[in-house]
Amino acid sequence: MRNLRVNLDENSYDIFIEKGLLNQSGEFLKKIHTGKKVFIFTDENVAPLYLERLKKSLDTAGFSVFCDILPAGEPTKAFGNMAKLYAALLAAGITRSDLIITFGGGVVGDIGGFAAATYLRGVKFVQIPTTLLAQVDSSVGGKVAADLPEGKNLAGCFWQPKMVLIDPALLETLSDSFFADGMGEVIKYGAIRDKILFSLLSALRGREEVMEKIEEIIETCCKIKAEIVARDEKDTGERMLLNFGHTIGHAIEKEYRYQTYSHGQAVAAGMFWISQIAEKKSLSPTGTAEKIRETLHRHGLSETIPFNQNALINSVTVDKKNLTGKLNVILLQEIGNAFIHPTTPEFFTPETEKTFAEKEDAGR
Ligand SMILES: NC(=O)c1ccc[n+]([C@@H]2O[C@H](COP(=O)([O-])OP(=O)(O)OC[C@H]3O[C@@H](n4cnc5c(N)ncnc54)[C@H](O)[C@@H]3O)[C@@H](O)[C@H]2O)c1
Ligand SMILES: [Zn+2]
Repeated sequence: MRNLRVNLDENSYDIFIEKGLLNQSGEFLKKIHTGKKVFIFTDENVAPLYLERLKKSLDTAGFSVFCDILPAGEPTKAFGNMAKLYAALLAAGITRSDLIITFGGGVVGDIGGFAAATYLRGVKFVQIPTTLLAQVDSSVGGKVAADLPEGKNLAGCFWQPKMVLIDPALLETLSDSFFADGMGEVIKYGAIRDKILFSLLSALRGREEVMEKIEEIIETCCKIKAEIVARDEKDTGERMLLNFGHTIGHAIEKEYRYQTYSHGQAVAAGMFWISQIAEKKSLSPTGTAEKIRETLHRHGLSETIPFNQNALINSVTVDKKNLTGKLNVILLQEIGNAFIHPTTPEFFTPETEKTFAEKEDAGR
């Protein structure tokens, strides 16, 4: 059993990782929940595959179990659905002393977690993530959210889970494209923090080989995220490093209206492009982008997305987070070591920002 602790004072919690862990969920939850009732949010794809196993384990541990099966996919995260989630909790008579479980991918984790955070001013919850993206990223760190018509994740808060139970065997039923999606984030962790992880990923050939080492890989990713989150819970500094590839990635997702390219695919291209730009400006060593490209290709991802530079600059400039005209981009000093580069949206316009070498020359 692999066990990590996310250190956040009174909000600290454990992450447990093991193939087959789902069957022991009940026993694990007893450690943090002495009450009787538990309420599961899950989705219509996960439920027929795994819900009975989870329920059985919870029954055996003596819990009385209620659940709500949501439609699969991002539209479920619409803020307009919140009333339905609260209604399901009310119908089950859930009180502040009960426990909510989010059992699914990032969609269920985010909206179910947001419901937990806000229902009766906050009920404790546990994440049991079932996609690779959720197991390495969204289930850890306490960001929960719903989507507004104007944009994704625009309503949300920080609400840390009391425990995260990760069963990598659940990934066997994930489609190749959702698996690759999660690999985009896995490669990101290697790129920003761990060159050993990155070299492992650049040596593994595809999903089967990744699954042989999946527990180790998930543990490494969660450890990186847990450390960064512990130092910057509310996302005001270091946590920005987790956005490597995301400025361009978000612009691509937006440009294609969240239809054509998934988040992981967009971030994959984003990591390559930002590194290519950084290389041209001598901010990253030559060959960085190429190493990323090769690794992406090994895991069903690609840097080739037709995308217009103006659309990118436009997206970065009108981004709501960028009212000041300033912009932080995440770059690699080398593979395994990222830094925050404060700049402006012009960073993405070719030849406007002087390279370090030029600046030094000018100073002489
Ligand atoms: N909170 C955070 O910090 C954070 C971080 C990254 C992403 N997110 C959010 O996560 C969401 C994306 O998450 P996602 O990629 O997991 O999407 P998702 O939850 O939609 O899951 C992807 C698909 O896989 C299916 N599925 C889930 N587990 C399965 C399994 N074991 N076997 C077969 N099918 C399975 C789902 O039903 C769905 O169709 C986005 O809304 C994004 O904003 C949140
Ligand atoms: Zn991401």
